[in-house]
Amino acid sequence: MRIPMIAGNWKMNTTVSEAIELVNEMRQELDQIDNVDKVICPPFVSLAAIKEVIEGSSIKLGAQNIYFEEKGAYTGEISPLMLADLCEFVIIGHSERRQHFNETGEIVDKKVKAALKVGLKPILCIGERLEENEAGRTEEVLTEQLNSSSDRIYYFSGLVLAYEPIWAIGTGRAATGEQANETIGFIRQYISQQHGEKVAHNVRILYGGSVTADNIAEFINQPEIDGALVGGASLKASEFLSIVKQTSEI
Ligand code: PGA
Repeated sequence: MRIPMIAGNWKMNTTVSEAIELVNEMRQELDQIDNVDKVICPPFVSLAAIKEVIEGSSIKLGAQNIYFEEKGAYTGEISPLMLADLCEFVIIGHSERRQHFNETGEIVDKKVKAALKVGLKPILCIGERLEENEAGRTEEVLTEQLNSSSDRIYYFSGLVLAYEPIWAIGTGRAATGEQANETIGFIRQYISQQHGEKVAHNVRILYGGSVTADNIAEFINQPEIDGALVGGASLKASEFLSIVKQTSEI
């Protein structure tokens, strides 16, 4: 059985005090919801403070990025070692990083390796652009992205995949549950061909892109979808709580 996961990607939002306030608003209720992994991914600067706020609760912490070197002259970067005792998860290869910060498949894979080396679990994001989708190239693009980070060992180390069609991120235009299920089914099948049925069966694959409290049920009721990576809607305590609650009730 794959335990469902809801991860909130706060992106570049909230000051430290706003971040603490947001967690405080949901801490108690979130802690009590069972049968789902609840992960929040605030900006780097708030991780230490939030770690303290959620201490002793069932809420898990993730970072939004990582550098692939352990230490050295890389001004401004955050190393895997620095994150290892702060959080359990790290989002890697988000389309905003691929797009705005020129992260190639090769860089993404170095980051995945670096995260796993210190015991951080990557939430590896993949997804196609609108024009690729419209040209019927979705499977080809996903295959290429999966091929860049395809070590069998990743799947035994807690890696989570997130399918996020770029045209659905922050646009209010989510994929339909059926579309997402079909594509995630393709991803699972591909992993099965590469690494065997058991590996494919065990890996959690989330959907991301304009998920809200109003449409979450559509996704988590699908057999292939194991939860969601939530952006905008994770910044509102009541909405995030509702998404997590609905997921726990499936
Ligand atoms: P969104 O973002 O929910 O605001 O569309 C999702 C994501 O980028 O992870």
